[in-house]
Amino acid sequence: MAISSPARPEVAGHPGGNDGNPRILGLACRECGGTYPISPIHVCERCFGPLEVQYDYELITGSITRESVERGPDNIWRYRDLLPLDGEADTDWRVGWTPLVRATRLGKALGLDDLWIKNDAVNPTYSFKDRVVAVAAAKAREFGFDTFACASTGNLASAVAAAGVRLGLHTYVFLPANTEPEKFINAQVYGANVVAVDGTYDDVNRLCSELADQKGWAFCNINVRPFYSEGSKTLAFEVAEQLGWEAPDHVVVPIASGAQMVKITKGFGELAKVGLTARKAPRISGAQASGCNPVANAYVRGWDAVKPVRHPDTIAKSLAIGNPADGYYVLKIVRETGGGIDEATDAEIAAGVRLLASTEGIFAETAGGVTIAVLKKLAESGVVKRGERVVAYITGNGLKTPQAIAPLLGLAPVIRPTLDAFDAYLGTQA
Ligand SMILES: Cc1ncc(COP(=O)(O)O)c(C=O)c1O
Ligand SMILES: [Zn+2]
Repeated sequence: MAISSPARPEVAGHPGGNDGNPRILGLACRECGGTYPISPIHVCERCFGPLEVQYDYELITGSITRESVERGPDNIWRYRDLLPLDGEADTDWRVGWTPLVRATRLGKALGLDDLWIKNDAVNPTYSFKDRVVAVAAAKAREFGFDTFACASTGNLASAVAAAGVRLGLHTYVFLPANTEPEKFINAQVYGANVVAVDGTYDDVNRLCSELADQKGWAFCNINVRPFYSEGSKTLAFEVAEQLGWEAPDHVVVPIASGAQMVKITKGFGELAKVGLTARKAPRISGAQASGCNPVANAYVRGWDAVKPVRHPDTIAKSLAIGNPADGYYVLKIVRETGGGIDEATDAEIAAGVRLLASTEGIFAETAGGVTIAVLKKLAESGVVKRGERVVAYITGNGLKTPQAIAPLLGLAPVIRPTLDAFDAYLGTQA
């Protein structure tokens, strides 16, 4: 693949449809319904609303069955009928089809009888971002881009860097300079151009929007965002399939930009629409960190719009988006489905990481600590009910943020290599 020209490629867009794939009708504005051909654009020219991929659900209903999905690969591409690709996907790359774990011990600790953990910490680069990136990278290549880039709070960077290697794309990733060192290393190791920006994520995002206009690159979460975000629907598809083609009663999702929650909701809706599950939609709840809580704050105050947080300050850096693009839609979804949104302090987040690890053997990053800490609060306040089938999404791996919980753990004791020394140590444990 040519890698030198920075020019935006010619893009095949076809008014009223997409010649490459009859299942995909085009892009439509979430606000005014205006339609656009499939192309690397993300906002409506008329009203600046976000664009969504539109599918021909009647056509898909005619071909998709539970059995056809079950015959597919053990990764997100088993749901390719509901993903916006024309050509081949990298089906060897094992993104998705992550474990849905029955969490009896954690459930007992929280007073919940039917709790499950969707463990997305075990994706190839150890977060759910591999899902969205797999779709975005494949689409970027279909559009003919040679460079793939992103604005990242940490996890997206490594997912973009690794996918770039596999698909032969140049990669540029931009992160706030105060992102955890582990997340820089996790992106650099793949050979990406990793740029630390002296500013918040919102500053990084603004810079990347300008670069997307200028450089002719595919920016994962900017110009190819409508395709990128579709990847998160697979978090809903898998959960329903793993529960025997049944949506749970209630799901708890961490919120940064809010895109993941919007697409999980869309995913459960689509499964019912194409007849793979019954028409039961789960209640949707959201989790934020107190140090960056624009959506949780708007929720408790009863606002429809989100007031940005200018200076996020939380150990859950991956969720530190002060001005979340999908905040308005998240508020609407949670209110319409009867869920709730709550927030967790740094101490509660670290305790959440510890609680999940010590009950279920799953080491989550701080975003997972946010989810567990908020799940605990929602269970205590009765928003999440004891008898409900609840799924909590754990979206990133604890090895990415070990320093955030190290102070809770202390240092392991050092002993001399003798039996006496070990017995003395045991004596101190009693
Ligand atoms: C581990 C983790 N979980 C959840 C999210 C939230 O994603 P979204 O921006 O789609 O709300 C992020 C975002 O970066 C993340 O890194
Ligand atoms: Zn519009």
